[in-house]
Amino acid sequence: MAMKLETVVPFGRSLDEYIKMFNLTDADLTKRILGVGDGPASFNAEATKLGYTATSIDPLYQFSGAEILSRFNAVVDDIIEQVRTSPNDWVWMYHQSPDDLRQNRVHAIQTFLNDYGAGKADGRYRIDALPHLTLPDQAYDLAVCSHFLFLYSEQLDYSFHLESIQELLRVSREVRIFPLLTLMRQRSPYLDPILQTLGEQGYFLAIKKVPYELQKGGNEMLAITTKHDN
Ligand SMILES: C[S@@+](CC[C@H](N)C(=O)[O-])C[C@H]1O[C@@H](n2cnc3c(N)ncnc32)[C@H](O)[C@@H]1O
Repeated sequence: MAMKLETVVPFGRSLDEYIKMFNLTDADLTKRILGVGDGPASFNAEATKLGYTATSIDPLYQFSGAEILSRFNAVVDDIIEQVRTSPNDWVWMYHQSPDDLRQNRVHAIQTFLNDYGAGKADGRYRIDALPHLTLPDQAYDLAVCSHFLFLYSEQLDYSFHLESIQELLRVSREVRIFPLLTLMRQRSPYLDPILQTLGEQGYFLAIKKVPYELQKGGNEMLAITTKHDN
């Protein structure tokens, strides 16, 4: 899967952010978790250190740590500046300010990079890309997808979203996606048709409020489970 590094925004979040974005309970954390499009999140590094079982997939992992860091350094100032100049679009609840956000993103990528070599060798960081994954059926209990599906609705079409979610349901018994907003802070236009289609296929769907909000209005996640889980 060819990926152009210059099209990626390698911003990563921490385990604590994942816990809040996805309402992860202590019981959830003991599951076999697949982080989808995890990029330079420190979720996997931190979860592994605590003894949990996490696998991250991302086409970004075809690049070296130095290449990922150099792309991060190339975009971080611009992005923080964009955040600073659109104050009405953000909620400073978790992160205290644009500077604090920057610091937290730097901390996440540093934690990720410190773990990247060992994690790649262990198979915890796998090169794989939606909408088709090389993973076996039902290998995971919970797949979490942060800041990829729905967020990039302008760039990735409806079929990509539907195929990707169905692929995640092939490899995992439960799928959670956050946020449900696009980069323009609109609710993704694909959400309702996806709810309708998956509902007709017999999946249980729930939109849940979560205790995390950075994009104003972005405090909901979608949880999808197969029938026999309920
Ligand atoms: C904004 S980052 C989010 C990183 C992480 N999930 C987090 O929230 O901290 C989006 C990620 O999606 C990844 N991505 C891009 N295309 C993808 C694809 N087809 N399948 C899976 N991930 C993809 C990018 O490489 C990037 O790391």
